Amino acid sequence: MNAHKNERRRRFFGSYGGRFVPEMLIPALEELEEAFFRLRKDSAFKAELAALLRDYAGRPTPLYFAENLTRKAGGGRIYLKLESLAHTGAHKINNVLGQLLLAKKMGKSAVVAETGAGQHGLATAAGAAKFGLGCKVFMGETDIKRQQPNVFSMKQMGAEVVPVRDGTKTLKDAVNAALKYWVEHFDTTHYLLGSALGPFPYPLIVREFQSVIGREVGRQIRRREGRRPDVLVACVGGGSNALGLFHPFLRDPGVRCIGVEAGGRGSGPGQNALRFGPRGRPGIVQGYKSYFLQDEDGQVLPTHSISAGLDYAGISPELADARDRGRVEFVSADDRDALDGYRTLCREEGIIPALESAHAVAYGIRAASSLGGKAIMSINISGRGDKDLFIAAKALDRDGWLAFLKSEVDHDE
Ligand SMILES: Cc1ncc(COP(=O)(O)O)c(C=O)c1O
Repeated sequence: MNAHKNERRRRFFGSYGGRFVPEMLIPALEELEEAFFRLRKDSAFKAELAALLRDYAGRPTPLYFAENLTRKAGGGRIYLKLESLAHTGAHKINNVLGQLLLAKKMGKSAVVAETGAGQHGLATAAGAAKFGLGCKVFMGETDIKRQQPNVFSMKQMGAEVVPVRDGTKTLKDAVNAALKYWVEHFDTTHYLLGSALGPFPYPLIVREFQSVIGREVGRQIRRREGRRPDVLVACVGGGSNALGLFHPFLRDPGVRCIGVEAGGRGSGPGQNALRFGPRGRPGIVQGYKSYFLQDEDGQVLPTHSISAGLDYAGISPELADARDRGRVEFVSADDRDALDGYRTLCREEGIIPALESAHAVAYGIRAASSLGGKAIMSINISGRGDKDLFIAAKALDRDGWLAFLKSEVDHDE
């Protein structure tokens, strides 16, 4: 009885999390849970993963003192954690390599994944090519259109990109499609979920594989400044890059952790992805309990963000709990702020962030300006902006970009 109670408690983060799935998925989740708890402390597994992270993903990623940005903000010292320099251009590869090793050890021959911005799909496609596994990536049609560069690259690596035409044709719909596919194929296929959410054990697995970010930041700042950071800032889609940065510091109340949600185009329903805004409430969706954007009847609301990776109605159950406990603060940056953050980082430091990360940059600059000169802030640059060329160019240089596109089409004819 006690063992059973402990088991149950372990699958929740406070009152969030759990595994609310159809009966037929329970064996697949139990197989994954068993493999993860057995291998996470296994020294051979850990050594194999560490070697992959070093030699394939390019870790540790740099922690860069952003001198110009610090001067512009006129407050605390700003360090940028450059996950943008990891292989495939974002933090997603950390979790992908961990889960691919798990899949291999479980004897799976293929992986299925969902993707929004395409960064998780890209990392999965890359890893699957390296490991010789079949790879299917579900992606909403809206996201396929806005993240074409990643779609092209995924296909080059041998992945099948499956368009999802349900709902708003974004990340939520891609997760549904991937879960549905997994129910029918879990004997051969591992579902390689891309953020710290979904039914247990996924939120724990993804957070554990992403925590390498925060552990490195702790070591790198100690080396540079002789102490730990004061403020951490990260954008929050599902929550994996934020938890990856925050988690190693959560026990230290002296470190402020700030998650930046997407304020989108405004406060109306369907115009943003503010799970902790007025329309976000606890609920159970896609196999887990957390905060979701919902209408009065509990139906999941559509979302909007300029960045596909933040355009999602749910959030990590562990972050929901940390927020309720007051341990992680949540703020927002809207589409326009994100474009400002993007442009500022380009101009000040010569670094092109992903539009997701640009939300963290925009808020980070504002927050740094109210800190004293000795305060240390670390902003997670979760990915690089190559994938967003089409969106940023249209927003920031509309006439020039459209003329270029037209000339390309004319030239082709
Ligand atoms: C570069 C980048 N940052 C952030 C995110 C948001 O995901 P998460 O909140 O899980 O880090 C994504 C998702 O695709 C992404 O591609």
